[in-house]
Amino acid sequence: MFIALEGLDGCGKSTQLRALAKRLKQYKIDPVIVQEPGGTPVGEEIRKILLLRKELAMTPLTELLLYEASRSELTQTVIQPALASGHWVLTDRYALSSLAYQGYGRGLSLELVRELNRLATGDLAPQMTLLIDVPVEVALRRKGRVKDRLEGAGVDFYERVRCGYLAEISKVSRGIRLDGMKEISTLSEEVWSYIRPFVSAQS
Ligand SMILES: Nc1ncnc2c1ncn2[C@@H]1O[C@H](COP(=O)(O)OP(=O)(O)OP(=O)(O)O)[C@@H](O)[C@H]1O
Ligand SMILES: [Mg+2]
Repeated sequence: MFIALEGLDGCGKSTQLRALAKRLKQYKIDPVIVQEPGGTPVGEEIRKILLLRKELAMTPLTELLLYEASRSELTQTVIQPALASGHWVLTDRYALSSLAYQGYGRGLSLELVRELNRLATGDLAPQMTLLIDVPVEVALRRKGRVKDRLEGAGVDFYERVRCGYLAEISKVSRGIRLDGMKEISTLSEEVWSYIRPFVSAQS
């Protein structure tokens, strides 16, 4: 199984990913867990450029290409091999993030983003994509004060990203919108209810 968690910064992706990994371990499944951007040596350097080096100005296209470079490296060197050897893979963000942030958010052509996503992933799509949806104010509040390049971009930007996520999640195969306003434990039960059938199928 290949599962992606998606949503605005601060929506609760990492929290749910940890809870899901814990559950899977109870069923003797030890998932490979990765994050985007990053998850490989070169990807982690790209992550630093994108999320920490706020003083570095870059065009939206440069930003997209850096995310896609990180994704390509991650897919080819970590995700594909892990899946090929029978592991479960959980990813904190994947191609849908570029569509939402660089496409809807930054205003790059959606077709261009889709094309680069195809190139970077080699058409490898998650079997399930879980979107944790919360209003922008809630995501920013949960995120606290730490700002990276994207969070500096303003509330309007995030509104576009959220709209993009909502528009696209219904087009994704096994794409599910979860109400991120629910309590953490309620939400993790809901996540589990979607994943559990695949666990039974395996064991
Ligand atoms: N359902 C929830 N209700 C209330 N608070 C939550 C919920 N889910 C997560 N949080 C809290 O919100 C904060 C951000 O959560 P988390 O780090 O999981 O978000 P994230 O989506 O991974 O963010 P980022 O994109 O910045 O990595 C944490 O303090 C977490 O405890
Ligand atoms: Mg996180």
